[in-house]
Amino acid sequence: MKKANLVWALLLAGLTSVSVHAVQQRDYHKAVIGKDCKVCHDQGLKQYPSDGACLKCHDVDELAKKTARSGEERWQNPHDNLHYGKDLPCVECHGEHQPKKPLCSNCHTFKYDKHKE
Ligand code: HEC
Ligand code: HEC
Ligand code: HEC
Ligand code: HEC
Repeated sequence: MKKANLVWALLLAGLTSVSVHAVQQRDYHKAVIGKDCKVCHDQGLKQYPSDGACLKCHDVDELAKKTARSGEERWQNPHDNLHYGKDLPCVECHGEHQPKKPLCSNCHTFKYDKHKE
C-alpha cells in the first residue's frame, strides 16, 4: 500500500469509530428509540447502559413470565434463573450494536430459540 493510501485508511477507520451514525441498531428499537442514544446510555457513551435504562420500557417480572419454563427446565429461565434469579444485568445477554450470546452459553447448551443474537 502506498503511504498516502495508508494514511487514508487509518483516517477512515478513525472516523467510523467515532461517528455517532455508524452504530448498528436493532430493528425492534429503531422505531421506538431512533437516534436518541441517551435513552439507553444513561451513564454516557463510554459505559454500557444500566438496567435502569432498559427497565424504563421493559419489566423484569413480565419478562420472567414470558420466558418461564416448566418442570426440570424451571431454572433455565434467563430472566429468573438458578444462579442469579432476576438480578443479572441485561447487557450480559443482550447486545444492541453487535451480536451477543446469552451468558449461560459459556457453560451450558440450553436452547433459547427466541433469543435474537
Ligand atoms: C436500546 C439501547 C441502546 C441505544 C438506543 C443505544 N445503545 Fe449503545 N449500547 C447499548 C448496549 C446494550 C451496549 C453494550 C453492548 C453492545 O455493544 O451492543 C452499547 C454499547 C455502546 C458502545 C460501546 C461502549 C464500549 O465501551 O464498548 C458505544 C460506543 C455505543 N453504544 C454508542 C451508541 C450510540 C452512538 C448510540 C446512538 C446512535 C447508541 N449507542 C444507542 C445500548 C444502546
Ligand atoms: C424507549 C423504550 C425502550 C428502551 C429504553 C429499551 N427497549 Fe427494548 N424494546 C422496546 C420495544 C417497544 C420493543 C419491541 C416490543 C417488545 O418486544 O417488547 C423492544 C424489544 C426488545 C427486545 C427484543 C424482544 C424480541 O422480540 O425478542 C430485547 C431483547 C430488548 N428490547 C432489550 C432491551 C435492552 C437490553 C435494553 C436496555 C439496553 C432495552 N431493550 C431498552 C423498548 C425499549
Ligand atoms: C461459569 C459457568 C456457568 C455459567 C455462566 C452459568 N452456569 Fe449454570 N451451572 C454451572 C455449574 C458448574 C452448574 C452445576 C452443574 C451441576 O452440578 O449440575 C450449573 C448448574 C445449572 C443448573 C442446574 C443443572 C442443570 O443443568 O439444569 C441450571 C438450571 C443452570 N445452571 C442455569 C444457568 C443459567 C440459566 C445460566 C445463565 C444465566 C447459567 N446457568 C450460567 C455453571 C455455569
Ligand atoms: C441470562 C441472560 C439474559 C438476561 C440477563 C436478560 N435476558 Fe432477555 N432474553 C434472554 C433470552 C435467552 C431470551 C429469549 C428466550 C427464549 O428463547 O426462550 C430473552 C428474551 C428477551 C425479550 C423478549 C421476550 C419475549 O418473548 O417477548 C426481551 C424484551 C428481553 N429479553 C429483555 C431483557 C431485559 C430488558 C433484560 C434486563 C432486565 C434482560 N432481557 C435480561 C436472555 C437474557
